[in-house]
Amino acid sequence: MSYNVNLREVSYALSEALDYVGIDDTMHGKRVAFMSAEIAKTLGWSPSRIDDLIMIGMLHDCGVSSTDVHSHLVNELDWDNSQVHCLRGSALLQNVGIYHQYAPVILYHHTHWDHFEAAVSDQIKEYANLIYLTDRVDALRVQLGDASNVERHNIASVIQKYSGSMFSPELVDAYMETSSSDSFWFYMEDEALNDYFSEWIGAGENNSVPFKILKNIAMMFASVVDAKSTFTSEHTYGVASLARYLTENCNLPSETQEKVELSAFFHDLGKLRVADEILQKAGPLNEEERSHMNRHGFDSHMILRKIKGFHDIAKIASMHHETLDAKGYPYHLGGDNIPIEARILTVADIFQALVQDRPYRKGLSASEAYAIIHNMGEENKLDRKVIGVLAAHLEECYKRSLHPSSYLNE
Ligand SMILES: [Fe+2]
Ligand SMILES: [Fe+2]
Ligand SMILES: [Fe+2]
Repeated sequence: MSYNVNLREVSYALSEALDYVGIDDTMHGKRVAFMSAEIAKTLGWSPSRIDDLIMIGMLHDCGVSSTDVHSHLVNELDWDNSQVHCLRGSALLQNVGIYHQYAPVILYHHTHWDHFEAAVSDQIKEYANLIYLTDRVDALRVQLGDASNVERHNIASVIQKYSGSMFSPELVDAYMETSSSDSFWFYMEDEALNDYFSEWIGAGENNSVPFKILKNIAMMFASVVDAKSTFTSEHTYGVASLARYLTENCNLPSETQEKVELSAFFHDLGKLRVADEILQKAGPLNEEERSHMNRHGFDSHMILRKIKGFHDIAKIASMHHETLDAKGYPYHLGGDNIPIEARILTVADIFQALVQDRPYRKGLSASEAYAIIHNMGEENKLDRKVIGVLAAHLEECYKRSLHPSSYLNE
């Protein structure tokens, strides 16, 4: 089926998940997009180039999943390992039809102006270097505190110092001109920034977007989530593949199958806000760590609910830790308040996690994992009908959980 959505809104909302990696400083991508667009206006660039820059700005750090990598990038002007996230981000965008054209820009967004190979086109160089410049301005802004006059001056002197080496002299001049207005800095406060982008989203169109395109986008964001921990690589893909299969075998219509699959790809988006140490911890979490961890379903909802046309997906995704006895989280819903789509997603999420290797244990066999799920059904936590379908196709469910890539393009 097709979804009636505004792709600007979809990209903007999902880019919030990338910004979550900053934990407390969560508007980095948006500030980079804003500054780049404003500087491009000063330079007299066309509206379509400005749109490109907004998209690139929002997505530019899709290669960063780790809060530790994020903090290096923000706290060091020219971090030695910065190329890793450029390569990864560019590889991710390469696979998504609607973002494909931005991949080379992301590849070079930490490349010094005087280090470009001759083969790179002028447009890519300009886009990439402008993103680099505004990205560094934002890092300096975080390092130096907020943007008082003294700090604005200090930021400007660092940027000017690298004119001709790290940054294109023409872009540095345009930055100096654009940033001389107070409003440039006021716009970077959260509320003003959100207003700025709602206007941009409002100027976009609603289109009938086929499931396949949305799946493509969803898979990219799922990869960002899965990259956060080596132990959970392909967790989301496994859950999506299994959840769709269970939905199909519960004899639900293909529209529901698609909805469940998209919800599954998005279900752990909120985990991007959980610090690496908590997500990677080998032992049990203490109370405070647990409370950070347990809000991720809610945070997934906060991201997805901003997309008009994604109402159901937002709900299903956010309920994947709810249980029928109302002891799940974050809503403590229980019973009839949990729709079948979410019940399926929950079973898929638990089953996949049990059969996958974790830092502190090997993955369980299909029958061991099933025994645990069966008990949870007896305790009225999980839906017994869904468990029945899992039991009837146990081997197939096991394969889909662990080797999702062979099934996802069906
Ligand atoms: Fe970056
Ligand atoms: Fe960045
Ligand atoms: Fe989760």
